[in-house]
Amino acid sequence: MAHLLTSLAHAACNPDSETGALVPPIHPATTYERDPDGSYPKGYKYSRDGNPTRRQLENTLAELEGGISCRAFSSGMAASNAVIQSIPIGSHVLLPDDVYHGVRQLINEQFQGRGIQVTAVDMTHLDDIENAIRPNTGMIWVETPSNPLLQITDLSGVGQIASKNDILFVVDGTWTTPFLQRPFEYGADLVVHSLTKYLGGHSDTLGGAVITRADSERFEQLSKYQQQSGAVLDPFSSWLTLRGIRTLGVRLSHQCSTARQVATFLETRSEVRVVHYPGLSSHPGHELAAKQMDDFGAMLSFEADGGQDRAMAIAAAVKVFTRATSLGGTESLIEHRASIEGPETKTSPSLLRVSIGLEHPKDLIEDLERSLIKS
Ligand SMILES: Cc1ncc(COP(=O)(O)O)c(C=O)c1O
Repeated sequence: MAHLLTSLAHAACNPDSETGALVPPIHPATTYERDPDGSYPKGYKYSRDGNPTRRQLENTLAELEGGISCRAFSSGMAASNAVIQSIPIGSHVLLPDDVYHGVRQLINEQFQGRGIQVTAVDMTHLDDIENAIRPNTGMIWVETPSNPLLQITDLSGVGQIASKNDILFVVDGTWTTPFLQRPFEYGADLVVHSLTKYLGGHSDTLGGAVITRADSERFEQLSKYQQQSGAVLDPFSSWLTLRGIRTLGVRLSHQCSTARQVATFLETRSEVRVVHYPGLSSHPGHELAAKQMDDFGAMLSFEADGGQDRAMAIAAAVKVFTRATSLGGTESLIEHRASIEGPETKTSPSLLRVSIGLEHPKDLIEDLERSLIKS
C-alpha cells in the first residue's frame, strides 16, 4: 500500500475519461434526470440524498481513515450531533472532562434534558473510565490530545474497555487527522472530524464527517439521519476540503515541527508557568502519545505566570500570530480560551491556546518572545 503522504497527494484525482482533467469537477446540480422507465441508472436523484462531489470526499475520508464508509456533514458539530442522536434515549454517555466545549454544551444543553445521561471523566486514567460505566452506558467519547489541555487518552485501553462492555467507542479525530493518528487501529467504532480544521486546512470552509470502521445498523441509521435532517456538506465545500486534503501531509509535518520548537521555547520562559504539549518529554502523556501518534500535533496551550491579566497582555502584543479562535489553517492563532468557552468553563483564566500555522518557526518564536517581554 502507498504511504499515506502519496494517498493524500492523489486524493480523488483520477483523470476524467472524457476530458483528461486531473482534478474532479464540482457537481452543483441539486437534481438528476430519471430514465423513461422512472429509474435513476446513475445512482443519483437529489443532492441532499447523494452528491458526486460529496461522495468523492466521503470515499476519500473513509479510505484515509481505514474505515469502510463515511458521511459528510455541514460542520463538525452537525457530524457530532448525528452521532449523539444515534444513542438510544435513556443511555448514559462518558465524556472527557477536558473536551471541545461545543460537544460538551451540545450534550448538556440539547440531549441531557431529553433522556441522555452524561458523566465527565478524567480520561487519562483508564480506571476512572471503567469505574464510571453503568449498565446503560451507550457511548464513550474520546478526544486525544484533548482541548485545551492536550491530555492524552490511551486509545487501546479504551478500545478494550468499550469492547468488553459492548459500548460504542467514538473518537473525535479533528486535532490529529488520519495523518497523525488512526483510532480504528485501537478499536474505535466511529471517528468524527471537523473538516473545518486541518483537513480543509485554509480557514475558508466548514465541514464535518463521521467514518465507520464496520457496517452496522447504527451507521445505516446515521446515514438516513444525514439525508432526512439535511445537514449535508455542500458540493463546493466538499471540493475545497478535497483540495485541502491533498496538501495535508506537508502542512501538518511542518506544523508539528514548528509546534515542537515553539513549545520547547515557551518551556524556557519565566513568564510561562506550564506548557501543555505532548511532544515535550515533561508532558505526562508524552510516552503514550509517542506510541499512538505519528507526530505530536500542531496545537499547544500554555499558562501565563501572572493569571488572566498577563495572558491577555501576551495575546494583545502579538504581531505574527492572529488573535482568533479555531485551528488548522495556514496562519498561526492565539486565543484566551476561557473567554470563548463561556461562563461555565473550567479552563484556567491564565491559559492561552495556540494553533501553529505555516509561518517560519523563527518568526513565531520571536513574536512570542517579544510579547512575553512586553507583557
Ligand atoms: C475537537 C473539535 N471537534 C469538533 C469541533 C466542531 O467543529 P465545527 O466548528 O466544524 O462545527 C471543533 C471546533 O473547533 C473541534 O475543535
